[in-house]
Amino acid sequence: MKIKTYNNLEVEVENIPESEAASLTALPALIDTHVHFRTPGAEYKENWETGAQAAIAGGVTSVLDMPNNTPSITTEEILDEKIKLVDEQLAKINIPLHKYFYLGATADNLAEIEKCKDKIIGVKIFMGASTGNLLVSDYEIQKKIFQKCAELNLVVAVHAEDDDIINAEKNNFPNPTVEDHGKIRPNRAAKVAAKKAIELARETGATLYILHCSTLEEVELVRRAKQDGLKVFAETTPHHLFLTETAYETLGTKAQMNPPLRLQNDQDALWQAINDGIIDTVGTDHAPHTLQEKTSPYPQSPSGVPGIETYLPLLLDAHSKGKISLEKIVEITHTNAQKIFGIKETGDLVLVNLEETKTIKNESLKTKCRWSPFAGWTLKGVPKYTVLNKIIYKI
Ligand code: DOR
Ligand code: ZN
Repeated sequence: MKIKTYNNLEVEVENIPESEAASLTALPALIDTHVHFRTPGAEYKENWETGAQAAIAGGVTSVLDMPNNTPSITTEEILDEKIKLVDEQLAKINIPLHKYFYLGATADNLAEIEKCKDKIIGVKIFMGASTGNLLVSDYEIQKKIFQKCAELNLVVAVHAEDDDIINAEKNNFPNPTVEDHGKIRPNRAAKVAAKKAIELARETGATLYILHCSTLEEVELVRRAKQDGLKVFAETTPHHLFLTETAYETLGTKAQMNPPLRLQNDQDALWQAINDGIIDTVGTDHAPHTLQEKTSPYPQSPSGVPGIETYLPLLLDAHSKGKISLEKIVEITHTNAQKIFGIKETGDLVLVNLEETKTIKNESLKTKCRWSPFAGWTLKGVPKYTVLNKIIYKI
C-alpha cells in the first residue's frame, strides 16, 4: 500500500490493510539517543526482550544504551560480554533492534576507550553521581577524556550536574522529601557542569553532547556555544518537556529523576530551544525502576522514569495542539541524531494515526517495570505500525 509521509511524499509499505492505509502517516522510525535497558545486572527492571518491545511500541527502531550497568561498562571485555548478552536476548524475540552502546569514562580507562573506539557510539561522563557508580568529577581528568575522544573522533556525552554543588546542598537538607530533590540538584548544578563541559569542548575540539538538558541556563550556554561555532549539541527529555515540579503533588517519588523536574519557565525555554534549533534531540532517558523501588521513601527511592513507548504520542499530541511541527519532530527524534552520531539511514518507519486518541495505561505497557508517569494521559496521535528492516510490527 502507498502511505503518505509527514512531508507530503508517498512510501510503499506492504501488508497494511487497505481500509487503514489512508488514515496513516509515515515518519522515519525514531532513534532514542538515551536508554537504560539494564543489561547486565538489573534485568529485573528491564532487559532487551522487554526493552525492544517497548521500543517498537513507541515507534523506535534504534537505541543508544547507557553504560551504568552492573558492572559498569568501562572496558572492552565488559562491553563484549554485554553485547553478547544483548544479542542473545534480542534473538529470542525476533526484534533486530539497531543498537549502539556508550562506554563509561573512569579516571583511568583511556586505553579502554581507544580499544573500544569502533564498537561504541560515544563516551559517557557522569560529572555528577547518579544511578550506578560512574563518576568523574576532576577537571584535569575530564580534560584527558575529552582530549582522547577528540583524537578518536568520538562524541563525549555528559551527565552535566556538578557533584560538589549536589554534595554541598545535601548537607542543607538533613531530612529531605522529594520536593527538595530539585533544591539538592539545583539549576546551578546543571549550569556549572554544562559550562565546564563546553569549556572542555572549546579547549580540546571534542564533539560534546549534553544529555537531558533541563534548565533555561543550559539552553543559554548551548546557544552561545553554537554561536561560537563549537561542536556542542543538546538533548532534552520527554519528562522535562511535559512535566514540571508540580508533578510531585500527584506522582511523589515517581516523578524523581536526575536531573530533576524544573519550573515552568525552564520548560518554556526548552520548547523555545527546540524550535530555535538549540536543542537538537529528544532522548527519553528511559530509566526503568520497579514500582516497589520507586515508592520507597525519599531519598532511598531511585531516580529515573521509563519513557520510550510514550514519547512519540506525547510529541504527536503537542503537534495536534500546534506546539511543534511534524518536520521538527522528525528532526529531534531522528535526523539530528543521525548527524551528531554518524548513524546511517535505515529506511525504518513508524506509521501513525494523527486523528486517533488513546489513553496511556500502565497495564498496556511493554516495559518490564509497567508504569509510566504519564499513565491516565489521553493523547491525540497514535503509533500503529513500526517497520524495522522491512518487518512490520503491529502496535
Ligand atoms: O534519573 C536518572 N536515572 N538519571 C540518571 O542519570 C540515571 C538514570 C538511571 O539509570 O536510573
Ligand atoms: Zn540516563
